[in-house]
Amino acid sequence: RADTKAILLEINKLAAQYYYVQLKNEQGAHALAYLKNRELSDDTIRAFGLGYSNKYSNDLYQYLRSKGYQSEMLLKAGLVSMDERQGVYDKFWNRVMFPIMDANSRVIGFGGRVMGDGKPKYLNSPETIIFDKSRNLYGLNRARSTKKPYFLLCEGYMDVISLHQAGFTNAVASLGTALTAGHASLIKRYVQEVYLTYDSDEAGTKAALRAVPILKDVGITARIIRMEPYKDPDEFIKNLGAEAFEERIGKARNGFMFSLEVLEKDYDLHTPEGKTDFMREAARRLTEFDEEIERKNYIEAVAAAYHVGNEDLQKLVARMAIQAG
Ligand code: UTP
Ligand code: MN
Ligand code: MN
Ligand code: MN
Ligand code: MN
Repeated sequence: RADTKAILLEINKLAAQYYYVQLKNEQGAHALAYLKNRELSDDTIRAFGLGYSNKYSNDLYQYLRSKGYQSEMLLKAGLVSMDERQGVYDKFWNRVMFPIMDANSRVIGFGGRVMGDGKPKYLNSPETIIFDKSRNLYGLNRARSTKKPYFLLCEGYMDVISLHQAGFTNAVASLGTALTAGHASLIKRYVQEVYLTYDSDEAGTKAALRAVPILKDVGITARIIRMEPYKDPDEFIKNLGAEAFEERIGKARNGFMFSLEVLEKDYDLHTPEGKTDFMREAARRLTEFDEEIERKNYIEAVAAAYHVGNEDLQKLVARMAIQAG
């Protein structure tokens, strides 16, 4: 089994090299143009080892067979599939390839993006004995050497790459999955703080709210950066540049204050009854801070942010705590 792992790592490395060469070949010209159109430089393409899986149905398979690997191993690596009609064929076809590396820069899988509107937008390697999606983060091999005390945690491969290219070399992303406790403990080995830069759509907002307690559970402080009016960090950087992004980092909200901002949307704060109902729910949430100092500090922050009396809010929280039993 230890042997199998080593062989699967070799296979993934060879595949990454193969895809990289394809990107630079004539048949990869349109894929290279796609990446250039997304404003990635040659240095960035090299640093992230981006590649191209071409249009032939099984040339990666043929190449790896020619290197002496058995079909059984190639199936285990998740790079090829098999059915009765087609035999063995390549899993990735006419896609821009993003090799996924572990913290030690070993290739453990791939994400492949269609260049048009096809579905799925990203096809990923299946989990294998070397590819555990909930224990690896895209970009960690590079982000781990950051001198900053925090990581930027985003949703996508392109977000990580854009951020690194813009000088934010502390960006990582989970691999098309929700953040897990495994990711949180992995992050904790390197930094104690995370700035969440998820997409500004509803899915991204929800994912950010869910990530905060997962990070908090391992002792990581989470702050949230808003990408509005853009969809994600990649688009934000392209439109407003690195300096504007740096400013957004400076304006990041902590998880609790962010959750209240999301909550605001359910109330009309311009009416006394709307604002009262909102403050009740805020107070209820404030009761969930078990530590007295922490609770007091948050009460102060909320009172200031929503222009209510500190003592009034304290009383409301105390009442809510009794109600909650
Ligand atoms: P997004 O849909 O936000 O894509 O998915 P993106 O990263 O902004 O991609 P571009 O800019 O259109 O190229 C975020 C992440 O979710 C995973 C990928 O890891 C992607 O980077 N994902 C998304 C998938 O695994 N499969 C999909 O079909 C879509
Ligand atoms: Mn998204
Ligand atoms: Mn996105
Ligand atoms: Mn995007
Ligand atoms: Mn105000």
